[in-house]
Amino acid sequence: MTATPIAPSAAETDLSDLDLFTAGPPWAAFDTLRRLAPLHWNPEAAPNHGFWSITRHADIVAVTRDEATFSSEIGAANLEELDDAQMEIRKSMLETDGARHFALRRLLQRDFSARALAPYETFLRGLTSTTLDAALAKGGYGKDPIDFVAEVSADFPIRVLVRLLGIPDEHAGQLISWGNRMVGNTDPDEADVLLDSPESEQYRNLPFRSPAALEVFAYGDELARQRRGGEGDDLVSKLVNRVPEDGVPLSERDFHNYFLLLVVAGNETTRHTISHSMKALIDHPEAFAQLKAQPELIRPAVEEFLRWASPVYHFRRTATRDVELHGQTVKAGDKVVVWWPSGNRDETVFDDPYRFDVQRDAREHMAFGKGGPHLCLGNQLARMEIRIMFEEIVRRVDSAERLGDLRRVRSNFVNGIKAFPIRMIGT
Ligand code: HEM
Repeated sequence: MTATPIAPSAAETDLSDLDLFTAGPPWAAFDTLRRLAPLHWNPEAAPNHGFWSITRHADIVAVTRDEATFSSEIGAANLEELDDAQMEIRKSMLETDGARHFALRRLLQRDFSARALAPYETFLRGLTSTTLDAALAKGGYGKDPIDFVAEVSADFPIRVLVRLLGIPDEHAGQLISWGNRMVGNTDPDEADVLLDSPESEQYRNLPFRSPAALEVFAYGDELARQRRGGEGDDLVSKLVNRVPEDGVPLSERDFHNYFLLLVVAGNETTRHTISHSMKALIDHPEAFAQLKAQPELIRPAVEEFLRWASPVYHFRRTATRDVELHGQTVKAGDKVVVWWPSGNRDETVFDDPYRFDVQRDAREHMAFGKGGPHLCLGNQLARMEIRIMFEEIVRRVDSAERLGDLRRVRSNFVNGIKAFPIRMIGT
């Protein structure tokens, strides 16, 4: 790769440095890169080889739409560098291109459409009400603060997923713990085996290099065994009984990785969006008051919540050929990393991007990706969960305040909140 000299502040930016993310997204670094080094070569410590960062909205769209040049199938979805054998074992739909990706996605695409999800609205509203009532009872005036994550945002998305997968409610806690251990693989509070530890070497063939993946696979296998050949309407039954449109049935490995992807993808991301959005509403009481006065604004405001929260930091592609971009050459085989939060603060797309404005048209946000083949499969489900959560919050909560510092996940993959002490007063 042939990186031209760039302004020192951009050159010094290292997005592989997790310390840069401890206080939240490194907004200043993203701003600098967008302005001065829209294609930025980021060296990495061995055994990795470095990556290109893409930070402008338009470039992120172009890269993620062009899977012939920027493949998801060569290399991994994240910064970790996998050999071909590891890649073959670990690949899910996220790490697949072309016709096979399309067929895998189509297997459940209809089940994640707004129309298919509409019947869950009543269930979701009931679940939200129960969750919020319990949290409000626990944390009113004169009582200890509640942790919004533990009491509200963590439980809710997983309880929905548990319903879709046809799993007993009492297993929800177990799924949360698996998700935390895998996605939090760079945070010593969350993971039992850290990604960059020597111990992780024995788990190199597992997603996230995490032993939790083995437990998820075993759990999925048991569900598959029970449901194979049955008539069930849940997502696991559909995965084991449907044949993808390309006629190639799911192998055991395909099933493992598909099931694990659903457990992980549908859990943390929505949780963190809800936590970030609650924080934004506490920090901007005028916005909270506006939504309380006009709850019909919540549906469009969900897009601003997603833009603001940007819960996924990056995904990676790998160049399949040499390609020129901003006067530099990305070489075949180079890692190319798109930073969604940076695109969500791109001033050429969002006017005054650091203003939280529940009335702005934020539909160009890229929290779910943007128009590429891997656009989040669960985007309609996530939107519905977030909308219903805040429709119920504005109905039930009169005021809320922060009582202490929030704790963040140590990660440059998820922009996560581990704990968020607040007081909520009911109406
Ligand atoms: C606020 C919540 C969520 C956010 C911010 C989010 C974000 C993302 C992003 C950024 C991608 C990759 C897009 C790309 O590379 O172009 C993705 C893919 C995916 N998401 Fe989500 N997601 C969320 C919720 C969910 C939910 C609830 C589910 C399902 C239960 C889900 C399932 C998936 C799947 C299966 C993929 C892979 C799609 C593919 O490879 O074709 N996500 N998500």
